[in-house]
Amino acid sequence: MYRSHTCNELRLSDAGKEVTLAGWVQKSRKLGGMTFIDLRDRYGITQLVVSAEAPQEILDTTSSLGREFVIQVKGTVVERSNKNPKMDTGDIEIQVKAIHVLNKSMTPPFTIEDVSDGGDDIRMKYRYLDIRRNPVKNALILRHKIAHEVRNYLDSLNFLEIETPYLIKSTPEGARDFVVPSRVNPGQFYALPQSPQTFKQLLMVAGCDRYFQIVRCFRDEDLRADRQPEFTQIDCEMSFVEQEDVLNTFEGMMRTLFKNVLNVEIGTLPRMSWYDAMDKYGSDKPDIRFGMTIHEITDAAKGKGFGVLDGAAYIGAIAVPGAAEYTRKQIDELTEWVKRPQVGAKGLIYIKVNADGSFKSSIDKFYAPEDLARIAEATEAQKGDLILVMSGDNNRKVQTMLGTLRIEMGNRLGLRDPKVFAPLWIVDFPLFEWSEEDSRFYAMHHPFTAPKPEHMDWYCSDKKEDLEKVCANAYDFVLNGTELGGGSIRIHNADVQKRMFEILGIGEQEAEEKFGFIIHAFQYGAPPHGGLAFGFDRVCALFGGSDSIRDYIAFPKNNQARDVMIDSPSVIDQSQLDELSIDVRKKQ
Ligand code: AMO
Repeated sequence: MYRSHTCNELRLSDAGKEVTLAGWVQKSRKLGGMTFIDLRDRYGITQLVVSAEAPQEILDTTSSLGREFVIQVKGTVVERSNKNPKMDTGDIEIQVKAIHVLNKSMTPPFTIEDVSDGGDDIRMKYRYLDIRRNPVKNALILRHKIAHEVRNYLDSLNFLEIETPYLIKSTPEGARDFVVPSRVNPGQFYALPQSPQTFKQLLMVAGCDRYFQIVRCFRDEDLRADRQPEFTQIDCEMSFVEQEDVLNTFEGMMRTLFKNVLNVEIGTLPRMSWYDAMDKYGSDKPDIRFGMTIHEITDAAKGKGFGVLDGAAYIGAIAVPGAAEYTRKQIDELTEWVKRPQVGAKGLIYIKVNADGSFKSSIDKFYAPEDLARIAEATEAQKGDLILVMSGDNNRKVQTMLGTLRIEMGNRLGLRDPKVFAPLWIVDFPLFEWSEEDSRFYAMHHPFTAPKPEHMDWYCSDKKEDLEKVCANAYDFVLNGTELGGGSIRIHNADVQKRMFEILGIGEQEAEEKFGFIIHAFQYGAPPHGGLAFGFDRVCALFGGSDSIRDYIAFPKNNQARDVMIDSPSVIDQSQLDELSIDVRKKQ
C-alpha cells in the first residue's frame, strides 16, 4: 500500500494514528535541528517533521531531498504546537518514522506555487509541472465538475450522449478545416469536424429525439484568448421543439450549473433582439453588467456647420459616467486608442458635462451650450459625465466601434467584475449576412438554420433587400460580453434547404457533393428539430472568473497554434509523406 491517506485528509481527531503518506516535496526547511517538509499531492499539503534524534538513515534521506522529489513516509499523526489556520491540515503534523524516496526530481524550471516565477512559454513547455500548481489544477477540477453537472442535467431530461466521428468531411461552420490525408484513398482527405452539426441533425432523422455530446471540435482560425484550434462543445439537439423549448431547456441547464457549481442564482434570463443589441451595445454579445449604452444622436447633432458630423449618415455616442474630469492628455490617449486598426475610428469627439452643468467640448467652435445640452439630453448624460461621439456612413460600423470603446471604458472604470454574472439570450438574428467584398450572402449562423415561418415570402424572393430582412429562429447565450453558446431551429424540409443553398450561391452539384447525404436524409421523414452548442472551455473559464480559456484546458496550444510541450506541428518523414501520396516539395 503506497498510502493510507491523502495529503488533505488528516485532522486533529486522527492524532495518534499511524499513517502512510505519499506525494511531492513542496519545500523542506531546517529549524533548530528539526526538519519540516511540506508534502503535497492533488488534494493538499501535510506537514512532516523529522526530529534531530531520528535514526541516521532517516536523517540522511531527509537531507538529500530536493523540491519535487516523490517520497513515501510512515509516521504518527501528532498535534502541532504551532498551528496553521490557513491549511486544512494545519492542526497536525506527521512525526516521521520511515522515509523512502520513490523518485528523484530535477529542480523544476519554475516554482510550483500559486503565483509562479515562470513565464507563459516555460510553463506551457512544462505543462505537467504547471498543472501541479493550484490555480491550474483547480481549473481542471472545475472543468470536471461542470462536465459532470451537464451530464446529470441532460441525462435527467432523457438526452442520449452519442459519439460522432472525427474523420469526416467539411462542415459548414465557416472557419477553415483541419484535414487528414487518407493513406488507403490516395490523394483524398478527411476533414476534422468544426462541429458535429450535420451528424446531430442526422441523429434526429434517426429518431434519437434528444442528443448531446461533450465533444472536441477543430477550427483553423486566428487565435485569441477565447479561441483554440481544438476546443470542446457541449453540443445538443432536440426533436419536435420550437425555439421556446430549446431556450427553456438550456436556460434550465445554465441555471443548474450556476447553482450547483457556483451557488449563484441567475433567475430568468432577459432576451434581447440582435437589432437592439447592435443599436444599444454595438455588439451581438453585449456585456450588460453596466449601462453606458449607445445613443443615436444624428438628429440632435446635425446641421451646425461642422462638416464631419453634417456629412455623416449616423452619429452615435456613449456617456461615460463620472469621466468629465478626464484631462486633455487622457482624451488624446483615448483618441489614439480608437484610431488603432483594431478599432478603426477616424477620430473621437468629446463633450464634458461639468459638475456645475456647463459644457466643454472639442466642438465648442460649432456648438453653442444649448446645442450641447440637446446632445447631452439625447445621451442621458448626467453632470460629471464625459460624452464620446463617433460618426460615419454606416450605422453598424459606427455602433461596433462605439461598442468596443464602451467595453474599454467599462474595463478602465472597473465595471466588469468577473464575479458578477449577467447572462442573456440574443434572439431574432438576421438569417443572412451580405458581404460587400464578395457581393454575396453568407449564412449568419450556418446553412441549416431555418428562416422564421412568417418571413417565408421574403426568403423566396429574389430581391436583396427582402433577403436582408429575413430573420432566423436563432439564438445565442451571452455572458458578460462573451458568446458562450449558439444555435437555431433547423430546416427540416428538403426544398427549403435547397433554396438556402441557392441563396448562398452553392450550386446544385456542389450542394450534392458537399451535403447530399443530409439533403437525401431529409427526404426520409426528418422531424422538426433544433438545438445549440455551448463552448465548454468558455463556460469553464467564465465560471472560474477568467477571459482566457487556456488555463481551463489541460494541454492547450499557444497563439501560433503550437503545442510547445510536444513540439507540434512538426515535419514528417519523406517515407510517411510518400505513403500518404503527398508531395510537399516546392514546385519549380
Ligand atoms: P458556433 O459556431 O456558434 O455554433 O459554436 C458554438 C460555441 O462554441 C464556442 N466556440 C469556440 N470556443 C473556443 N475556441 C473556438 N475556436 C471556438 N469556436 C466556437 C463558442 C460558440 O458559441 N453547430 C453550431 C451550434 C448549433 O447550431 O447547434 C456551432 O458550432 O462558445
